[in-house]
Amino acid sequence: MFRRALWWIRAKATRAVERLLLRVLAAGPVPKHVAFVMDGNRRYARSHHQPIQQGHSDGFMALRRVLEACLRLGVNCVSVYAFALDNFKRSPEEVRDLMNLAHEKLIELSKHGELLQEYGVRLNVLGKTSLLPEYVREAISHVESATRNNNRAILNICMSYSAQDEMTSAVDSAIRLSLEKSDPNRCEITEDDIDAQLYTSLVGSPPLDILIRTSGVKRLSDYLLWQCCENTQIHFSKAYWPDYGFWDLLPVILDYQRKIWSQGKL
Ligand code: FPP
Ligand code: MG
Repeated sequence: MFRRALWWIRAKATRAVERLLLRVLAAGPVPKHVAFVMDGNRRYARSHHQPIQQGHSDGFMALRRVLEACLRLGVNCVSVYAFALDNFKRSPEEVRDLMNLAHEKLIELSKHGELLQEYGVRLNVLGKTSLLPEYVREAISHVESATRNNNRAILNICMSYSAQDEMTSAVDSAIRLSLEKSDPNRCEITEDDIDAQLYTSLVGSPPLDILIRTSGVKRLSDYLLWQCCENTQIHFSKAYWPDYGFWDLLPVILDYQRKIWSQGKL
């Protein structure tokens, strides 16, 4: 009983310190768009002798924690890699469990009084969603319409996504639009035309400031490749995604602020 009370007090105190630090950080330059490659769920589960599904479930808890920290900080847009097109090659059981988890959590996120409503977040699911099962697509429509009028921040959940697919679809749309507007024998498209047709641009995401990948793997894995441009800062963390939290994010934000200040960009 005494130990439980002590644990509770410690958790409360840590949360209060985190909130205070977020308020201090929010007074400096804040990135507008932060993206996460949430990697390491299965290794986390194995290291805790738990089923893989528990790793993905704890991964969703980490997503809530990190999203809330970003929103408190004042980040306008958070993008997360939840399911790569390549992930369809995993075992049918794991794909089914991930789809069930996505369905359950999307419905949960659409509820009134949830995080997205509290912080005024519009949720978008980006990717080749036609490949997702119908019950997941229905949950996506439900949460997208439930949060459509939220305008303080954006959460992009990338599912059935690959950057190569995104770029191919953007080029295709840019060509189609150009042909509709001009001479069909002279189709010209620019970088800006392609940029405007990216999944992230179509939902109004600002340029990507920071990309973070967890679990010690140093690869981009076909995520937001067009968006990772001149000014995007890329960070690799050794933490498995379900363990990732405020104390991992803190040095990333401090580094961003130091770089902005040293460039005299304030
Ligand atoms: C990568 O770790 C993680 C995934 C493929 C799934 C990520 C999904 C969530 C965090 C939950 C998403 C929630 C919603 C609302 C869609 P891994 O499986 O590659 O693990 P490993 O690198 O240790 O093998
Ligand atoms: Mg992985």
